[in-house]
Amino acid sequence: MSDKQLAIRERAAMSDQASQESTYTMGYSDDFQQLLDRRSVHTAAAHLLPHLKPGLRVLDFGCGPGTISVGLAQAIDPGELHGIDMEASQIDLARAAAQAGGHTNATFHVGDITDLPFDDDSFDAAHCHAVLMHVPDTQAALAEIKRVLKPGGIVASRESSISSSFLHPGEEESVHAWTTFARLLAGNGGHPEMGRELKTHLMDAGFSNIQASGSFDYFGATEDVAFFHGFINDWFFSPKVTAAIVQFGLASQQQLDDWRARIDEWKANPGAVGAIAFGEAIAYKP
Ligand SMILES: C[S@@+](CC[C@H](N)C(=O)[O-])C[C@H]1O[C@@H](n2cnc3c(N)ncnc32)[C@H](O)[C@@H]1O
Repeated sequence: MSDKQLAIRERAAMSDQASQESTYTMGYSDDFQQLLDRRSVHTAAAHLLPHLKPGLRVLDFGCGPGTISVGLAQAIDPGELHGIDMEASQIDLARAAAQAGGHTNATFHVGDITDLPFDDDSFDAAHCHAVLMHVPDTQAALAEIKRVLKPGGIVASRESSISSSFLHPGEEESVHAWTTFARLLAGNGGHPEMGRELKTHLMDAGFSNIQASGSFDYFGATEDVAFFHGFINDWFFSPKVTAAIVQFGLASQQQLDDWRARIDEWKANPGAVGAIAFGEAIAYKP
């Protein structure tokens, strides 16, 4: 990682501390960032890629650090890619990623996806990944996306379904931790089952020709299991997240300590696998 990227990450972590009151569950710490760093357009937007071609104007809303945005920019080059996120530190990271990759067709903006700074009917496609699950008013967000899409434009989303995610072996124990995470998300105004609800929400928002599908982010190889174990330890069991869980009465410290010991057992099992379940959908503005 370059000095510039390190400096941006430090600022992001400080901003995360400053936003303790934020209702965005995941926060902007390095611990969460390590999960986003593994994503690419191929792993996260395979359902959209066949519909992209050079010259299109595409929006990546809730773009975060831009790890997916840069792949979208490459797919539509010399078309314009616009990324938007409410968090300035994420936009700094996205700009740095685009600059490092030489994606001069990518522009990033700080802003809210329910109030987009773009003209009506101005994008060929609008993409998001793991964003609608965090936005309290789904229909307000989709109405705004529909406004900026051209007629015939395509919207694409991939969102988690927490109740279909798992660690194996040890499902019976870990299901309580997944449920607690889902309740924390919902308590912050999010939607832990957005992945499976996408088709319904897109229909309600007036999109047509909706194609829904599903996939997993799968942790099968030993090094992937080690990564996911480290991520769960660093993020889910971080003082900030566990304090929120205990404060909201979602679990006791004793339960958290017990779950933490169980995931160490899970990692040590040679048969260990884990998965985050996602629902995806693409749809068209009539
Ligand atoms: C889980 S991250 C996903 C980032 C990226 N799409 C990815 O998958 O790597 C969700 C992002 O949505 C952004 N976000 C949430 N609500 C938003 C809103 N109302 N307006 C703009 N960005 C929002 C957060 O700041 C965060 O960067």
